[in-house]
Amino acid sequence: MKEYKRRAPAYDVTSRKFLSLSQRVAIESLNPRRGEKILDAGCGTGEVTAGILQKTGDDGEVVGLDLSQDMLDIAMGRLLSYKKAVLVRGSLESIPYPDDHFSGVVSVNVIHYLCDLEQALKEFYRILKPGGRLVLVGFCTDYVWFALVERMWRVLIPSHVRAYSLEGLSHALEGAGFGSVTGRRLKMGWFWRSMVIEARIPQDVCHDIRQVQVPGTLALDVAK
Ligand SMILES: C[S@@+](CC[C@H](N)C(=O)[O-])C[C@H]1O[C@@H](n2cnc3c(N)ncnc32)[C@H](O)[C@@H]1O
Repeated sequence: MKEYKRRAPAYDVTSRKFLSLSQRVAIESLNPRRGEKILDAGCGTGEVTAGILQKTGDDGEVVGLDLSQDMLDIAMGRLLSYKKAVLVRGSLESIPYPDDHFSGVVSVNVIHYLCDLEQALKEFYRILKPGGRLVLVGFCTDYVWFALVERMWRVLIPSHVRAYSLEGLSHALEGAGFGSVTGRRLKMGWFWRSMVIEARIPQDVCHDIRQVQVPGTLALDVAK
């Protein structure tokens, strides 16, 4: 990500109030517990990762995943003292972890960069265990003037793809199979308009569904 090569050194200083608020809301909503395995998707400089590690302790594991090596380098410095921190370079649209691996995923101020939100939600669904929870914090287009600003960013900022309304993102989550989808809008200072959405993988979901093609028949979905 070219943008973050440039922004990484000053990232933690600019828009400080907005960053702290969105990161705090995300950690409170996720409410990580001791021993949990959590993914911080688009971890940037690792502030949320560090906040979660303080809660999950030495029995847990927190993976910070990001596309930008410059952001990950800063995260590495921040997370040196945590034994259970793992940093991985990769994309939310193709997460290098097996199915049912994490009990929680959090992603703060990242979804507006995604070219394929549907694919990222599929990936979150795949790597979360049944009952696992997802917390997304991102810009919210439900405020008319902020929606206009966001439209301008689409033209002016090459890496900015699009932001969503609370209803739009909730529908996308439900479409990806998530249940218990709840969200609220967040006013952060006079400018930033955001939202937090929480969702869960249903407890009784069976991820082990394979497409089995019996010659001469239609394809069947069979649980292992
Ligand atoms: C605004 S920063 C947010 C960082 C962090 N979550 C925080 O709250 O400070 C957005 C981050 O998302 C990362 N990013 C953007 N698109 C991504 C993708 N498709 N996969 C992984 N990371 C991505 C960028 O490299 C950047 O570090």
